Amino acid sequence: MKAAINGINLAYTDKGQGTPLVFLHAFPLSKVMWQPQVHALTEFYRVVTLDLPGHGESDALLWNLTLDDYAKDVVSLLDHLNIGQTVFIGLSMGGYILFSVYRNFPDRVKGMVLADTRAQADSQEGKAGRRAMAQLANKEGSSAIADLMLPKLLAPSTVQQRPDIVKQVRTMILQTPKEGIIVDLMAMADRPDSIGLLSTITCPTLIIVGEDDVATPVTESRYMADRITNSTLITIPGAGHLSNFEQPASFNQSLQNFLATHRL
Ligand code: MLT
Repeated sequence: MKAAINGINLAYTDKGQGTPLVFLHAFPLSKVMWQPQVHALTEFYRVVTLDLPGHGESDALLWNLTLDDYAKDVVSLLDHLNIGQTVFIGLSMGGYILFSVYRNFPDRVKGMVLADTRAQADSQEGKAGRRAMAQLANKEGSSAIADLMLPKLLAPSTVQQRPDIVKQVRTMILQTPKEGIIVDLMAMADRPDSIGLLSTITCPTLIIVGEDDVATPVTESRYMADRITNSTLITIPGAGHLSNFEQPASFNQSLQNFLATHRL
């Protein structure tokens, strides 16, 4: 399905009934990464996934956006779907966007899941890395970004033993136009620090991280868990950065336990 949101046609899925769960995808992927969660959870919940602008089946991005703009688009889509308060699940860049949603629209957040993400802004070195990656995307396109990102997204065991997962993730990256990749990189480089925000978060919060995540290591998740009062940290063995896609059964079980414990 598509909806015209802030001048862009956003692609989304909206399935099932019950408490809404809204899933925010990682860089440089699409709503396809949440398929294992859609399959497992639509029986019990209303599950919404979307392609951020410049990703998947949403319109291409022809100008710069910030992560706050992405957050506004997400909330505008929820307005369109008549969803008020909801549980958000954001992985990596999706987590950065979730911090922006909480900062700007705290009343919309009933609970949050911060998966394989971090609260810190980019270091100067990190920003330089983004600029280099944007140059690579511009010169060589999405396939060069896929080569670079796959070892960062997936655990070595997934790369060696799960060619099906590697192929699916590569396909998602190849379907992201280079304009979308470049805007993400600029938006992530410019994002504010969310460390100060952590102690203000009062809603139930689940923090999930793949044990072998090299992009946002377990220490980043512990840092958030130590500062968010009402939070629980779960580490998933046999997963890297894309924990929901590499180990969907463990991820879904953790998510369902969290939702049940807090009666969300
Ligand atoms: C992601 O998975 O969204 C990215 O690794 C986030 C980042 O590059 O900071």
